[in-house]
Amino acid sequence: MKKLSDSLAVNIIPASDIHIPALEMLEGRGWKRSQRPDFNETIMSFVSRFDLADVRVVIMNDEVLGYYAIGPRTPLISNRHVMRLRAILVAPNRRRRGLGSLLLADAEQFAVSRGASKLTLTVLSTNPAAIRFYERHGYACESRLVWEFHIGEQFIDDMTYAKWIGSGGPSEKNRSERKEYREPAK
Ligand SMILES: CC(C)(COP(=O)(O)OP(=O)(O)OC[C@H]1O[C@@H](n2cnc3c(N)ncnc32)[C@H](O)[C@@H]1OP(=O)(O)O)[C@@H](O)C(=O)NCCC(=O)NCCS
Repeated sequence: MKKLSDSLAVNIIPASDIHIPALEMLEGRGWKRSQRPDFNETIMSFVSRFDLADVRVVIMNDEVLGYYAIGPRTPLISNRHVMRLRAILVAPNRRRRGLGSLLLADAEQFAVSRGASKLTLTVLSTNPAAIRFYERHGYACESRLVWEFHIGEQFIDDMTYAKWIGSGGPSEKNRSERKEYREPAK
């Protein structure tokens, strides 16, 4: 059980079938067009977007207040130190109370428990609240795909953010002196 500053007592647990109606409802009212590239396409279908095994929910007295979905970035062994946060959402009327921070901390712990040392995610440039949220939690922008989506009348950039988590991964020194990969000389 975790406690928030305004004394909400919440739990973060694996999602199961009983949470699907609440998750579908959250999907329907939790996103704005500017926050999701597929807003008009799959907004109402949570189960078509995610495998429940990859989802954890934050609940208070059985009420679902938010969720995140996470998984390996790719199935490749060379990429297995990286997990991807596929989505994170807090119910609109529960935001700015620390629930997103609790979910993100749980996602980082979850990723570390699966052997990851890096958590990566993408966020649209039209979502300043989420960008501020990730930066506040130590995520750094690693790439920006310019005009990657066309939503409404607007071209929108897609940004990749990432954070080193746990004690694995390159040392601070290696990170600051990062060198590009070169084929070994024959
Ligand atoms: C992003 C999101 C998950 C944050 O959840 P939350 O419960 O509001 O987050 P927290 O209360 O833990 O906020 C932590 C910090 O993040 C930043 N932040 C969160 N929402 C913000 C906003 N609307 N504007 C500016 N900063 C914001 C603030 O620094 C905040 O700390 P503060 O409240 O002390 O200033 C939530 O806004 C959300 O569900 N958004 C819609 C879905 C979405 O965009 N998901 C990300 C897609 S990539």
